[in-house]
Amino acid sequence: MELLKRLTEAFGVAGFENEVRSLVKNAMKEFCDEVRTDVMGNVIGYKKGKGRTSRRRSLMLCAHIDEIGFLVTHIDDNGFLRVDPVGGVNPKLSLSQRVIVCGRKHLFGVIGSKPIHILTEEEMKKQVEIKDMFIDVGLPKDKVKELVSVGDPVAFYQSFFRIGNHLCCKAMDDRVGVYVMLESLKEMKKHEVDVYAVASTQEEVGLRGAVTSAFGVDPSIGIALDTTLACDVPDTPAHQRITELGKGVAIKIKDTSSISNPLLVRHLKEIAEAKKIPYQMEILPRGGTDAGAIQRTRAGVPTATLSIPTRYVHSVVECVHEEDVKSAVKLIVAYAEKAHEKDYTL
Ligand code: CO
Ligand code: ZN
Repeated sequence: MELLKRLTEAFGVAGFENEVRSLVKNAMKEFCDEVRTDVMGNVIGYKKGKGRTSRRRSLMLCAHIDEIGFLVTHIDDNGFLRVDPVGGVNPKLSLSQRVIVCGRKHLFGVIGSKPIHILTEEEMKKQVEIKDMFIDVGLPKDKVKELVSVGDPVAFYQSFFRIGNHLCCKAMDDRVGVYVMLESLKEMKKHEVDVYAVASTQEEVGLRGAVTSAFGVDPSIGIALDTTLACDVPDTPAHQRITELGKGVAIKIKDTSSISNPLLVRHLKEIAEAKKIPYQMEILPRGGTDAGAIQRTRAGVPTATLSIPTRYVHSVVECVHEEDVKSAVKLIVAYAEKAHEKDYTL
C-alpha cells in the first residue's frame, strides 16, 4: 500500500496535476510498453495485447489523477490569501483544514475561522462560503507576495492513515482508482486486447481530460475506475446506502454522466461470479465519472465504471476498504483476459 500512500498524499488540483502526474508516469513505465503524456496532461500507457494484430480490440481503462482544491485569487495587505474552489469543494468541510499552497515552493497553510467565543448566534447558523474564507500561511505579506502568485493551486494536506480495515486520506477520489489501474497493469499477463491505461486530468471540473484522451485513443471498450459513495453509516436507511464498504467492487449501472452498456455490465457480473470476486451493483443518484466522456466519444463506445466504495467523499478523510481495492484489481485483470470475447453492440 506504499504506492497508494504516495498517490493520495501527492498534490494535483485539477489543471495543475504535475506532481501526481510524474509519480504516475514513472509507475506506469514499469508495467506498460509505451507511456506518453498529452497537452491536457493525461498520462497514457499502452500495453500490447496478445491477439492477432488485424482483429485486436482495445480496452481503455481510465482513472483521474486530479483532486479538488482551490486557486489563489488575491493576496491581501496582511498576507492572507483568498481562493476560488476547483471542483466540488464542501465549504463546511474546508474550515480549519491544513492546506499546501503550491507557490514558488510548497507553503503550509491553514484555512482560518472565527473562534466560537465571538460568533454571533446568526453567524453560528449561517452557511459558510468559500468566498468568505481565507488562508493563513504564517508569513509577512512581503514574503507571501514573493512566494505566492494569483493562480497558484492550493491543495488539502493530509497524510495517509489506516483505521481498522479502512485506508484513509484526502484524494482517495480518485487516486485509489489510479492505484487499482496500476496494480491491474502489473498483474495483467494474458490479455488479447490492447490495453490503454489513461490517468486523466480535470475530471473534477467536468471529465475534461477523458474527453480528449478517449477521442485520441479511440478504444473499442472503455472502463472508468473511480470512487463512489458508500453511505453505510448511522441514520442512512438501507435503500439509500448506494454501496457498502467491504462488500466488494461496485459495478455501476447508472449515474448522472452515463448509463453503463448493459451487455458489458452483464459480462462483468458473469466474470465476477465465475471467479468468485465479491461485487455489488451501484446506482448513484448524483455524480459522474470519466465513463460519461468515453461513452460519447466519436461514434460511441461501450463503457462501464467499476467503483471503489468510499465513505466521506470529497473530504480529507475519504475511507476505502482494503478488500474492495483487491476485488477491483481482480475483476479488471480477469475482465482484460475476456474483453475480446464479446460484442457489446445493442
Ligand atoms: Co470527485
Ligand atoms: Zn472521482
